[in-house]
Amino acid sequence: MRSKIVAGNWKMNLSSVEISKLVKEVANQIIEGEISSDTKIVFGPAFPYLALVREILDSFHLGNILLAAQNCSEIDSGARTGETSVGMLKDVGCDLVIIGHSERRKFHKESNELLKLKVDKSLEHGLPVIFCIGETLEEREQEKLFEVIESQVSEALFHLSAEDLSKIVLAYEPVWAIGTGVTASPEQAQEMHQFIRLLIDKKYGFEVSDKMSILYGGSVKPANAAELFSKPDVDGGLVGGASLKSGDFFEIIKAI
Ligand code: 13P
Repeated sequence: MRSKIVAGNWKMNLSSVEISKLVKEVANQIIEGEISSDTKIVFGPAFPYLALVREILDSFHLGNILLAAQNCSEIDSGARTGETSVGMLKDVGCDLVIIGHSERRKFHKESNELLKLKVDKSLEHGLPVIFCIGETLEEREQEKLFEVIESQVSEALFHLSAEDLSKIVLAYEPVWAIGTGVTASPEQAQEMHQFIRLLIDKKYGFEVSDKMSILYGGSVKPANAAELFSKPDVDGGLVGGASLKSGDFFEIIKAI
């Protein structure tokens, strides 16, 4: 059975005091709420707080809560002011790295070609990846959504071996649903997730596609999480705004 995952991407939000409070509250709720250990929970703080979150998580000894960075460099070290290498992420205890978020694609002009290099670098260092894909509203309206998703997946990932691909979690995040309060309907999410799984199936076979976790992201809230997660190809969520409040995030975790 593939992993169920609820990941919080905090983006450029929260202070150290807010983070300490949030992580402890969610961890305590997980202990008390008896969430299945098969469900993986992910926290994705900004770079300066990765070590802090690691330290708090270690004090709880909960193996199913993982730490993710929001980005990484495609090279190992050197003259790249402001960048962070995968080796550094491993050094501070990251379990995962988010690559290809639409905000990185848009504001930092990250191309499929560059993202491919970042994926390769992460896997070279043994750091599993949450790889984000998603179409814009314009692309959806022009009925180019399947074409766009296919090229995002194939150009950045289809050079990988089946073994390496199994270290990737995909996150389908339609750009028009991110931070807008407009969620894809459960049917729209299922339609795309099924399409993505079929793409993986065609290239790598059923064994690989059946095991791949595909998360949905874009205005996931306590009110819509259960319906989205009930779809057969939706294996969890990548949550922005609603992951910043422990109560909301825990409600979403419970929905899985
Ligand atoms: P929101 O949940 O705030 O729409 O953000 C989704 C997202 O971008 C997660 O990576």
